[in-house]
Amino acid sequence: MKVIVVNNEKGGVGKSTIAVHLAWYFAEHRKRVLFLDLDPQSNATTTLSAQIGGPEAAAFFARPVAVPPLSAPGIRVAPATPALRGILTVDGKLIQQFCSNLRDISGCHYDIAVIDTPPTFGVRNLTALVAGNFVLAPIDLDDYAIDGIETLLKHIVGVKQKYNPNLNFLGLIPNRLQTTSPRQRDNLKSLIQKFGTRYLFDGVIPQRSSIGEALAEKKPVWSLPKTAARDAGREMRMVFDKLAAKMDLA
Ligand SMILES: Nc1ncnc2c1ncn2[C@@H]1O[C@H](COP(=O)(O)OP(=O)(O)OP(=O)(O)O)[C@@H](O)[C@H]1O
Ligand SMILES: [Mg+2]
Repeated sequence: MKVIVVNNEKGGVGKSTIAVHLAWYFAEHRKRVLFLDLDPQSNATTTLSAQIGGPEAAAFFARPVAVPPLSAPGIRVAPATPALRGILTVDGKLIQQFCSNLRDISGCHYDIAVIDTPPTFGVRNLTALVAGNFVLAPIDLDDYAIDGIETLLKHIVGVKQKYNPNLNFLGLIPNRLQTTSPRQRDNLKSLIQKFGTRYLFDGVIPQRSSIGEALAEKKPVWSLPKTAARDAGREMRMVFDKLAAKMDLA
């Protein structure tokens, strides 16, 4: 089982939007997907409510868990609950228990785990990065957001160096790109100059209103019967095709 973590300690950059779409994408590509929602805001859990079926995500930190297998490709959600708010202290035992649960599940039923994280750098995000094989960091392109990128990179690279040499950084992925905004295009150019191909993913997800509409309907954007949504879906799936190839899951 491969584990992908969608992570950025900044709020509202599109982590949950991308995480749930990744789960839908992989399920449509005949994968068995375990979705772990580590954010007590539980936005992804709400969107994927029809697929809840695992133990709650907080339990992964507390005890050995058994996740029921999926009989066919699809998604099983370990939901976010208020208990996640109690997981605050950086404690090696919690981290080890979480990793050990993922390792046990890895031996059986699932092809991929997608982990959505909260907008803070605390023990839940740290654990996800310690347990993950891949991390993707959605960013937005306003000036203020760009200031936080170096800290985010420091955290990801720091976890890789200290705790998890197997963590593969898929890159920063600009989301909600306003393609007609000169300011955003300039910011994207300076990001490319600064971080190049080492830290920047080769692709962007533009801002499209149909993405919000699709989430409200709890459906992937590419499934809405509207040209604008299908176009937005095509843009997102092009990015996911590249990701899947990098993860050897294509
Ligand atoms: N590419 C996009 N185009 C249009 N709207 C988007 C796009 N990506 C995300 N959004 C919208 O932006 C808002 C924030 O997205 P999301 O909840 O995924 O961010 P987040 O990083 O998970 O936030 P938090 O840190 O609070 O968990 C949502 O209303 C979502 O519908
Ligand atoms: Mg979120």
